Amino acid sequence: MLLPYITFIFLMLRTSRSSDTIAVHQNISDGETIGSGNARFELGFFSPGNSKSRYLGIWFKSTSPQTVVWVANPETPLIDTSGAVKLDNQGNLTLVNGSGKVIWSSNSSASGTNINLVAQLLDTGNLVIKNGNEIFIWQSFDYPGDSFIEGMKLGKNFLTGRETYLTSWRSADDPSPGEYTLRFLMVKGKYPQACIMRSSAIETRIGPYNGILFSGRANYAPDAKPTSVSYLIMNQNETYIYYISKSNTTTLRTIVTPGGKLEFSELKFPNPEWTPIATLPADYCDHYGVCGPYGSCTTASSPSCGCLKGFDLKTSDEMSPDNDTRVCERRKALDCDPGEGFQKFSSMKLPDTENAVFSSNMSLIDCEVACKNNCSCTAYANSNITSGAVGCLLWFEDLIDVRVYPQNGQDLYVRLAASEFRFHRKKQVVMVVTLSISAVLILLGLILALYIRRKWKISDAESSSQMESEDVPLFSLSKISKATNDFSADNKLGEGGFGPVYKGLLEGQDIAVKRLSKSSGQGLVEFKNEVICIAKLQHRNLVKLLGYCIQGHEKMLIYEYMPNKSLDSFLFDESRKSLLDWSQRFEIIHGIARGLLYLHQDSRLKVIHRDLKAGNILLDHQMRPRISDFGLARMFKEEESEANTKRVVGTLGYISPEYAVNGLYSVKSDIFSFGVLVLEIVSGKKNRGFVHEDHDDNLLGHAWRLYKEGKSLDLIDECLRTSYSASEVLRSIHVGLMCVQQRVKDRPNTPNVVGMLGSEGSLPTPKKPAFFIQESEINSTSILPSVNGVTLSQIDGR
Ligand SMILES: *[C@@H]1O[C@H](CO)[C@@H](O)[C@H](O)[C@H]1NC(C)=O
Ligand SMILES: *[C@@H]1O[C@H](CO)[C@@H](O)[C@H](O)[C@H]1NC(C)=O
Ligand SMILES: *[C@@H]1O[C@H](CO)[C@@H](O)[C@H](O)[C@H]1NC(C)=O
Ligand SMILES: *[C@@H]1O[C@H](CO)[C@@H](O)[C@H](O)[C@H]1NC(C)=O
Ligand SMILES: *[C@@H]1O[C@H](CO)[C@@H](O)[C@H](O)[C@H]1NC(C)=O
Ligand SMILES: *[C@@H]1O[C@H](CO)[C@@H](O)[C@H](O)[C@H]1NC(C)=O
Ligand SMILES: *[C@@H]1O[C@H](CO)[C@@H](O)[C@H](O)[C@H]1NC(C)=O
Ligand SMILES: *[C@@H]1O[C@H](CO)[C@@H](O)[C@H](O)[C@H]1NC(C)=O
Ligand SMILES: *[C@@H]1O[C@H](CO)[C@@H](O)[C@H](O)[C@H]1NC(C)=O
Ligand SMILES: *[C@@H]1O[C@H](CO)[C@@H](O)[C@H](O)[C@H]1NC(C)=O
Repeated sequence: MLLPYITFIFLMLRTSRSSDTIAVHQNISDGETIGSGNARFELGFFSPGNSKSRYLGIWFKSTSPQTVVWVANPETPLIDTSGAVKLDNQGNLTLVNGSGKVIWSSNSSASGTNINLVAQLLDTGNLVIKNGNEIFIWQSFDYPGDSFIEGMKLGKNFLTGRETYLTSWRSADDPSPGEYTLRFLMVKGKYPQACIMRSSAIETRIGPYNGILFSGRANYAPDAKPTSVSYLIMNQNETYIYYISKSNTTTLRTIVTPGGKLEFSELKFPNPEWTPIATLPADYCDHYGVCGPYGSCTTASSPSCGCLKGFDLKTSDEMSPDNDTRVCERRKALDCDPGEGFQKFSSMKLPDTENAVFSSNMSLIDCEVACKNNCSCTAYANSNITSGAVGCLLWFEDLIDVRVYPQNGQDLYVRLAASEFRFHRKKQVVMVVTLSISAVLILLGLILALYIRRKWKISDAESSSQMESEDVPLFSLSKISKATNDFSADNKLGEGGFGPVYKGLLEGQDIAVKRLSKSSGQGLVEFKNEVICIAKLQHRNLVKLLGYCIQGHEKMLIYEYMPNKSLDSFLFDESRKSLLDWSQRFEIIHGIARGLLYLHQDSRLKVIHRDLKAGNILLDHQMRPRISDFGLARMFKEEESEANTKRVVGTLGYISPEYAVNGLYSVKSDIFSFGVLVLEIVSGKKNRGFVHEDHDDNLLGHAWRLYKEGKSLDLIDECLRTSYSASEVLRSIHVGLMCVQQRVKDRPNTPNVVGMLGSEGSLPTPKKPAFFIQESEINSTSILPSVNGVTLSQIDGR
């Protein structure tokens, strides 16, 4: 008689098992579960490992062994199988034991009319209590245990102050909170990094986040095609991380084990077993700060610990013998010298960002400027390695927990004392001298060989050099269009006098494409002239032409790309000008002079630039100057040294008087522009638009006044005041003033300029410069047409 009755109850339980919800006043007892047919997850009572205690939990339905992802009552287990879960009409989910005692409750409550309250296990493994309007009044994802699964958010809500993080189980048999946590140390305005912690001490730091992943995962392989993507969300209310799987047949789970390891594993449905992907800490270097401040850990060599370049291990006699704490110290202390620079370390795990300052929209160069301008800044790095390469991290304290990764590391730039760099420069000089001597010897040999060869093969050699100069590749419009993303606004580098310039990627090489606007008036002939002209000109201080493109109305020049943009982007920018110290500026002046000498004299054809200005001096990756924009250059036969032109082309502030007024130009017009440029480089101020409280003169007039008063050094850029060579500065100003003299005859020629800059002998006294009054006055006398743009072109000079 008993048997049919039991069967009846069993059938009743089966009905509730197929449901995924708990209605108000419905009971779920031990032995029953919720999670319908195809659901991935199941909620019910379980006993972990060898334990006899019962817990209410959620687990993956079809995995073996049972994979629990959430436990409601880890600290208050049931001691027998008599518990029940129910939802009251306030929206409070409670767990009661056999005596009806509440041993766990969600403490949630719905306000207003609480009709249709229901607790539901979603297919993501999230147990939610929701009202009739489908609003969640509580969810288990807000109370994580040791598991991080897809759809969960870990982080911090700054409005409520609530933090969600993982806590390890005490043991495999006991889900009560263990010693370890995985926390995303998220402080408002700081850059988040994940850490495995043992109570309040960091054991392993996983991070910071680099735009793709938390960089601590050393054994992450980029080509392994990760099956999930993680996202970091940062706004003023909250910061959190979550991840989603790329495919609905795999899922990732991350847990903190009772032993303090972070384990990543993957499940491929319908396979019932988890595949381990990674474990952290994975090696010695993963232990937080093992090599001490400014130490760097590597698994590639033994011992693993070393000091960053520029730092030495504090010797053991300074420390007590029983203290094996490593401390790396600076070889040369920082003293805020403007010559301090940054040493680049590649493939690194970035140091602890706990006290780092983060700015999401700074470029790397702005980041360098920010660090350079604050003497207590010890290092900087790009925070986001994805395509945009934006995001700046600045460190102000000791750098802790740095390691080298075999792959996937980031670049870290560490501040070192000025003398560290001087040391390198000296070494470089020795090397350069050694190399030069050997180069000269080799060259002598070659010349001899060539001379002998030439004796027999003169005609041959000449025809081959001809071939070389004509050899400028022509690219199709479609190719250039593809290289520049269809000339997208994002690729635009700037707008020159003759049209926009775009950055592009052509055959794996960065290029700059000058797209000549139709309105520029440059005809096909001029264009081809420019192409041939530039192609023949090859010098280390000139930008190299890689090719050109003519198709329909489109005319384009393809140059090599200069990563540091133009001189004016440094010289006239308050925050970036300090990146150019005096020795660099002096080198730039020399470089421009040498480039000009080549154009004016050494090249086979005399070329006058006609638009020499700071914007047309590009800087390569070593900050060496490269003269660009030969769109205005003309070729001359040797005997022609002066020409008259119908069109005045040039830029206000740089243009010589005879050219502006009479349209006469010669190499001396370029010399005038060069003089202006030199004074601008020394002073960091633009000639055009120069203002001074005491007078109305422009920069040339101001320099002239100071020169007459014997106070030329006052002209120097304020940001260079602490470190410069007075004799070099005075010589540069003197040469600059000689170049901007009114009379063409008074100005030195190009070889003289190069010679004067390089020698130490006395120089002739310059006369008053031309155009030393602000140009507004010149305008009023109608000598120069006034034009909005910076570059004047196609203006009838007669
Ligand atoms: C739920 O269980 C409680 C005791 O825990 C019992 O009093 C109540 O009648 C049960 N409700 C239902 C609908 O079975
Ligand atoms: C229920 O819990 C109370 C308080 O923890 C305890 O005293 C009682 O023995 C428990 N009853 C059962 C049947 O477990
Ligand atoms: C939920 O129920 C428990 C046990 O009855 C009670 O202690 C708690 O105050 C309730 N919380 C809310 C918000 O009603
Ligand atoms: C719910 O509230 C009770 C009493 O206020 C408290 O003891 C218990 O820890 C709370 N439960 C949760 C899950 O916060
Ligand atoms: C932050 O919270 C406020 C108030 O709740 C809200 O108005 C604002 O939209 C939130 N901002 C973001 C970015 O979520
Ligand atoms: C996965 O997604 C595909 C297409 O989006 C669907 O056809 C398939 O049924 C899904 N599989 C599962 C297990 O949800
Ligand atoms: C070991 O030396 C370091 C640096 O001098 C010091 O910070 C640390 O407290 C010392 N540790 C012990 C255990 O003495
Ligand atoms: C960068 O962000 C700050 C605040 O986050 C904002 O004030 C500034 O305008 C932003 N700069 C740019 C160039 O977007
Ligand atoms: C340098 O940066 C730190 C940290 O942001 C700041 O407290 C300090 O005022 C800055 N110093 C200067 C001179 O800007
Ligand atoms: C990283 O940069 C990418 C592309 O610029 C952007 O989509 C992403 O939101 C950035 N991530 C962070 C965390 O700043």
